[in-house]
Amino acid sequence: MKYTVGIDIGTSGTKTVLFDEMGTPIASHTIEYPLYQPKNGWAEQDPADWANASFGTVKAVIEKSGVAPADIAGVGLSGQMHGLVMLDRDNRVLRPSIIWCDQRTAKECEEITARVGADRLIAITANPALTGFTASKILWVRNNEPEVYSRCAHILLPKDYVRFLLTGVYASEVSDAGGMQLLDIPRRTWSDEVLGALEIDRSLLGEMYESPEITGYVTEEASRLTGLLPGTPVVGGAGDNAAAAVGVGVVNDGDAFTTIGTSGVVFAHTDNVSIDPRGRVHTFCCAVPGAWHVMGVTQAAGLSLRWLRDTVCTEEVAAAAALGVDPYEVMCAEAAKSPIGANRLLYLPYLMGERTPHLDPDVRGAFIGLSAMHTRADMTRAVLEGVSCSLADCMSVLREMNVSPNVMRVCGGGGRSPMWRQMLADMFGIPTAVTTAEGPALGAAILAMVGTGIHASVPEACGKIITLRDEFAPDMSAHAQYQPYYGVYRKLYTDLRDTYKILAKV
Ligand code: XUL
Repeated sequence: MKYTVGIDIGTSGTKTVLFDEMGTPIASHTIEYPLYQPKNGWAEQDPADWANASFGTVKAVIEKSGVAPADIAGVGLSGQMHGLVMLDRDNRVLRPSIIWCDQRTAKECEEITARVGADRLIAITANPALTGFTASKILWVRNNEPEVYSRCAHILLPKDYVRFLLTGVYASEVSDAGGMQLLDIPRRTWSDEVLGALEIDRSLLGEMYESPEITGYVTEEASRLTGLLPGTPVVGGAGDNAAAAVGVGVVNDGDAFTTIGTSGVVFAHTDNVSIDPRGRVHTFCCAVPGAWHVMGVTQAAGLSLRWLRDTVCTEEVAAAAALGVDPYEVMCAEAAKSPIGANRLLYLPYLMGERTPHLDPDVRGAFIGLSAMHTRADMTRAVLEGVSCSLADCMSVLREMNVSPNVMRVCGGGGRSPMWRQMLADMFGIPTAVTTAEGPALGAAILAMVGTGIHASVPEACGKIITLRDEFAPDMSAHAQYQPYYGVYRKLYTDLRDTYKILAKV
């Protein structure tokens, strides 16, 4: 029996899982780390945290599993997309990483559109200039910290930095690199036209691979830190959403899934490059060679619930500790006591600005309709519903693009809640189902299985490994009850947009 390791470098922590060749998880370990918000709308992490968590979790799963390192055929990486890691010529990290949900780069987005041209930008990178994407972060450092930029010798994404530490190679792969806004998405290669217009030297960027391809081999030093054998292959892997797609078996045209992690994503696989001309959803290369995906993003999905847990739900956290259960379980049980519409309380989940469908870095969260009768149960229900409304916004743009899945697979931490999965089924009006709980880590490990020849292709591996379970049918009467609230939810953005612009300038 051969084994593979999937390392998922997320925003709240790194989760590493060791799988056998049929995708059965043998051992799993997670190490958490902080997110720094030095200013409203800014978000940074320390790449050293990702490195330590990656090494620590790999070491832990090897020890816990008892699997001989010689039986580990390969490693796959998955990670939060878009984050900017800059190294100097001695491979020292130059500044904290500006990560995907950071919103400081509105000016640089204007600069990118002016330099490349709005139409060319969409034709090449399949997306309008976005504050979350890496290119605007690179320009922000060049404009605001020129002395840092002048010392930059390598630009890497979060998981590609960990790859560098494991293998010594500077490399990326198409699914994650698409989120840098420097890739020619239809041709799956760095775009000389965009790099030229932005005056970014191509030599700063790594070698480009497809997701299942071997990119390098574990070095002696990384072997000492992880327990992997020197020479163990490391495949391209994928951005977290593309890796999650593989991990839930969304690898054929029209298949879709929703993930509720720190961010929320509604994702559909497509055999052709399909671009929303208004840029409300992203088009990226997917981890299946020769295919793409479209996805809508809710910036603060699980983050909204985490914020509520940490700032408001101290009693639920204490109750959960006494019961020895996850605080979110207690919060969802309370929320289930509040009716649809949370007694007319609405929540806008725009804690970190919003992408789909608004593309607005200045909008922020809100509770609307608060009354003295409302309880924490209503507030929690309102948060679950507000995030679901934002995911429904993503779904409605995908529907305009003719995506109509029969079943919506659900993954991510939020996907573990049966209540939230039923709510999504009711709001979307289609059944939801889950697969295994290991989403992106399993996807990354499957890519390693394919890259090292254990399975012949990504769809073939998924066909053997992934099964659907716990299908929840939509309750169409609940669907109808949600509609008036969803209508108000949609109107609120339009009503409040200008107010948020003013607030951002105060
Ligand atoms: C996708 C995105 C997030 C991050 C963090 O475009 O920004 O989903 O990948 O998970």
